[in-house]
Amino acid sequence: MNKIDVVLGLQWGDEGKGKIVDVLAERYNKVARFQGGPNAGHSLHFGGKSFVLRSIPSGIFRDGTTNIIGNGVVFDPIAFKKECDELSEAGVPIRERLVLSGKAHIILPTHRLLDAANEQAAGKGKIGSTLKGIGPCYTDKISRHGLRIGDILADGFIDKYGKLKARHYKEMDSLGFDYNADPIKPFDGSLEAEEKKFFEAIEFVKTFRTVNCEYYINEALKSDSILAEGAQGTMLDVDYGSYPFVTSSTTSCSGACAGLGVAPQKIGKVFGIFKAYCTRVGSGPFPTELFDQTGEKLRAVGHEFGAVTGRPRRCGWLDLVALKYAVIIDGVTDLIMMKSDCLDDFDTIKVCTSYKVNGVQTNELPFDISAPIEPVYTEFKGWKTDLSGIREEDKLPANFRDYIKFMEEYLEVPISIISLGPDREATIFR
Ligand code: IMO
Ligand code: MG
Repeated sequence: MNKIDVVLGLQWGDEGKGKIVDVLAERYNKVARFQGGPNAGHSLHFGGKSFVLRSIPSGIFRDGTTNIIGNGVVFDPIAFKKECDELSEAGVPIRERLVLSGKAHIILPTHRLLDAANEQAAGKGKIGSTLKGIGPCYTDKISRHGLRIGDILADGFIDKYGKLKARHYKEMDSLGFDYNADPIKPFDGSLEAEEKKFFEAIEFVKTFRTVNCEYYINEALKSDSILAEGAQGTMLDVDYGSYPFVTSSTTSCSGACAGLGVAPQKIGKVFGIFKAYCTRVGSGPFPTELFDQTGEKLRAVGHEFGAVTGRPRRCGWLDLVALKYAVIIDGVTDLIMMKSDCLDDFDTIKVCTSYKVNGVQTNELPFDISAPIEPVYTEFKGWKTDLSGIREEDKLPANFRDYIKFMEEYLEVPISIISLGPDREATIFR
């Protein structure tokens, strides 16, 4: 019996999961998404082309790889159809390579409106949601009102849809949100027009193969190798992230068990991805955030603009306190470091190795990371070398190797893969 390997983000999302899953996918027969939805934006670059995947696993470009949208995912038929159309246009045979869990919950157009209504009502305290309806859809799942992909194939779907929509209307009324506006954000037009798209997309979804993900995956493990692909990052986990400025799912490793129907002892390797610096989109605490030219330089060099919303990402130095916290929670066995090539031109590189909270130094994340935290930094001399063309470890500059060694000692987990650029080829396996 094989084990299922997991790849996930250790920071606030956007660590470069798309590239790494694409690179790793070669070693697996199956790739499965286990949580999140179209709030994710996994970017892949190869053969001179770029793609951004939202709900579809990043193994979709590999011939012979089956991709699974797991039960833990929240699934937007409209976004899914759009994603499929783009992939089909690029010649990807999606139907041959993709199956859907009947238990994945469906994002309705009114879930997206509710996201906007909640954010509007929160005013300054807003989460900075991607407005894809993620929070409201998971809310309905947990409160046992949700609709699942399996429901669209059964009788009475329209009725169930109507009932859920009526609940959403009540909620929007209570929030003082006018869902009759036309156009209404985040749609291009009216709610009615969006519903039309929704039902067309539902017909499209019906043409895909739906499976019982839990049977499918456990059976496949007898002969296949499977990679579980996470979305977002551990610092956005609903339990362990910077609550309430988080997403609404379990982005950490245990989410793979719940989101695919596999038992904990079937988890094999856990690949934890992190960037050599930190970014965050949306609101919420970020202890090492930089508001100066260094932060701007990181944003420019790393092209740190959201793949989903286009928002400029907040940038800061690497936070090893938060990273170690994620490594512990996720049980990371292999670290993957992304984008260190973006630090090539810095004279000094800082990493936060402890926090000062109320004047007391600590290596632990406090309960409230919104409270004032002063990061304590260790400084490294920059390597001032273009890393992007290097393909062999022994060609890496000494300063860079010292920096890697320091991180491995601090995090107590080896860095197995170093990515030095967006392309598949710009990867060193150690
Ligand atoms: P990938 O998979 C970065 C952030 C949003 C917001 C918060 C809640 O590309 O790494 P939500 O729409 O989930 O209710 O938003 O979480 N967020 C992400 N940030 N990368 C992502 O995904 C994200 N998905 C959600 O910006 O702060
Ligand atoms: Mg992203």
